[in-house]
Amino acid sequence: MTEQTTFPKDFLWGGAIAANQVEGAWNIDGKGLSVADVATYKPHVDQKDYSVHLKVTSEAVEKAAADATDTFYPKRRGIDFYHHFKEDLALFAEMGFKTLRLSIAWTRLFPTGEEEVPNQAGVNFYKEVFKEMKRLNIEPIVTLSHYEMPLALSMKYNGWVNRSVIDHFVRFANVCYDSFGEYVRYWLTFNEIDSIHRHPFTTAGIIPDRSGDTIEKDIYQALHHQFVASALVTKMAHEKIPNSQVGCMLTKLITYPLTCEPIDVELTLKKNLENNFYADVQVKGAYPKMILKDLKNRDIQIEMAKEDKKILKENTVDFVTFSYYMSMAESGNPEAERTPGNTVLGVKNPYLPSTEWGWQIDPKGLKISLIELYDRYNLPLMIVENGMGAVDIVEEDGAIHDPYRIEYFKAHFKQMKEAIDEGVDLIGYTSWGPIDLVSAGTSQMSKRYGFIHVDADDEGNGTYNRSKKDSFYWYKKVIETNGALLND
Ligand code: BG6
Repeated sequence: MTEQTTFPKDFLWGGAIAANQVEGAWNIDGKGLSVADVATYKPHVDQKDYSVHLKVTSEAVEKAAADATDTFYPKRRGIDFYHHFKEDLALFAEMGFKTLRLSIAWTRLFPTGEEEVPNQAGVNFYKEVFKEMKRLNIEPIVTLSHYEMPLALSMKYNGWVNRSVIDHFVRFANVCYDSFGEYVRYWLTFNEIDSIHRHPFTTAGIIPDRSGDTIEKDIYQALHHQFVASALVTKMAHEKIPNSQVGCMLTKLITYPLTCEPIDVELTLKKNLENNFYADVQVKGAYPKMILKDLKNRDIQIEMAKEDKKILKENTVDFVTFSYYMSMAESGNPEAERTPGNTVLGVKNPYLPSTEWGWQIDPKGLKISLIELYDRYNLPLMIVENGMGAVDIVEEDGAIHDPYRIEYFKAHFKQMKEAIDEGVDLIGYTSWGPIDLVSAGTSQMSKRYGFIHVDADDEGNGTYNRSKKDSFYWYKKVIETNGALLND
């Protein structure tokens, strides 16, 4: 086996989870309610209509906030990582994980977001997690904000629309750096910052009926506040934590023209430019001129403080990370068939198969994305989410055979290797949901991503016992051989 057949030395193989989708313990040890704790169960049959994410109402939020049970809110249960983290980390270590991407629930540290001092029990919990990771030699990559802002900030201020939320977030980040900086070198600011357009409540605590007609403007205003907050906490990490590396995080939604008819190509180009805009701001430190013109054409004025331009310019990120699940097509034909993707409806690509949730499987799209992003930004890249949601069958003997998952990963890893061989500086890969968890979009447990099975159903019934799927042993081998296994 020669070196060229494997991934780069020190390649960060691992997995990614988010606090709100795994921890459970939603009301334990002083934790406050987050926006995730009021997310209801939305099975995949509804997913052709993503507008459901734009229809969150004040009434529904208030009703959910007053409900002291977890019956309708699966993220309140998660997979009980809060009490199982040692066992779960041990399983990740057994697979050979070099890294684990995880997030810190803002509401464990600041239950309403506005406290002056953090909740010590929350700080202690994450310290235990990081200590255990250190013991197991698993490098943490921490997302500060992954769809879990304090519900109190959402209800009081309509979330990130209000500029004061920046200060609360900076205070939260400050505590994270002071408390966990000795363990954590890699930080990501906002998960899929672009998703604010697709689900403004989940991403930024915006309750659409409070915005009413100004929803478009409010979304851009909130996004601007997140850009500024991201730059401020990037600066703070650099000042406080020696050798810290801060990354942005983008949903890579690559789009192809359905045909070579010029209108399809133009619409596609625009979609891709829009998708890159968010990383452009965080990498280049300024809004792209064409985005500013577009906002002007649409009469959307973002209120910017005098210092914002400078803050953005001076505090750009060190590396670029992204999630990649699927690709889609675009067409000028309004009749073109559409299919669901990661909270988007794209035009169906006739050349690609889909998952049971309709997401189009496209390993080559991952390579194309890597080349495009590296050429555009010239910064190290990390794929921090990738995987397929599937229904798994537990056999009578407890085994779970998931060849479809192995096939999915194998095809994607091969494309990653090709991109690296062609010059892309890809430094790490964390699969999404290395252990089954609650879906962000649908709150289902039955949409499973893991190498590790969790015995829990959509209603929260089950033992919550962990067991290994076939893919567990396969991924372990991939890591062990640093990808050489893929040549077989
Ligand atoms: C990403 C999110 O968009 O997609 C994750 O960052 C999410 O939180 C993942 O879980 C997969 O989406 P879903 O809806 O299948 O959970």
